[in-house]
Amino acid sequence: MKNIIAFAGSNSKQSINKQLAVYAAMQVKETKVDVLDLNDFTLPMYGIDHEIEHGIPENAKVFLEKIKSSDGVVLSLGEHNGAYATVFKNIFDWMSRIDGKLWSEKPMLLMATSPGARGGATVLEIAKGRFPYMGGNIVASFSLPSFNENFSEGKITNEELNTQLLHKVEEFQNKL
Ligand SMILES: Cc1cc2nc3c(=O)[nH]c(=O)nc-3n(C[C@H](O)[C@H](O)[C@H](O)COP(=O)(O)O)c2cc1C
Repeated sequence: MKNIIAFAGSNSKQSINKQLAVYAAMQVKETKVDVLDLNDFTLPMYGIDHEIEHGIPENAKVFLEKIKSSDGVVLSLGEHNGAYATVFKNIFDWMSRIDGKLWSEKPMLLMATSPGARGGATVLEIAKGRFPYMGGNIVASFSLPSFNENFSEGKITNEELNTQLLHKVEEFQNKL
């Protein structure tokens, strides 16, 4: 059986991106899902001086190993001021110091959502532009706009958007 990891680029306990990542991952058939939370991988803020003095922190190594030992990645990015949330950028930067191709060509379903009408489209575009240079193999992407209107009790409530997401999940599943 294939193993995938699902996580959000967020450290919010109520993360809407985590809710979306979990929902999408649960639609992948006959696959074991390991839901990860960046709160369980706390790291010092990346800085070259810290790296020189203390080396690479264990949690960056552990998280990178989670990616490498998976068959695929479901990731939903939070958007802060039109960019990655700091917690995501931080672990991303730390992992990139171990392996510049950190995504390891694992098939990725890349998503974003926000309460706004653009649904994190800006951060999604940033990631779509950058990840391919870093071993990223984005096989499907999806943005869920206006989270609070379109998602409730663990699932997408807007039928059209749900159908779109299920197609993206299928594309992802076919690449596992
Ligand atoms: C500092 C900050 C900046 C934000 N910037 C944006 C933004 O640029 N675009 C957007 O759609 N939402 C923005 N938001 C709202 C977030 O999308 C919202 O807090 C969302 O819940 C974050 O995702 P999460 O719940 O998965 O952490 C921002 C929120 C914060 C706290």
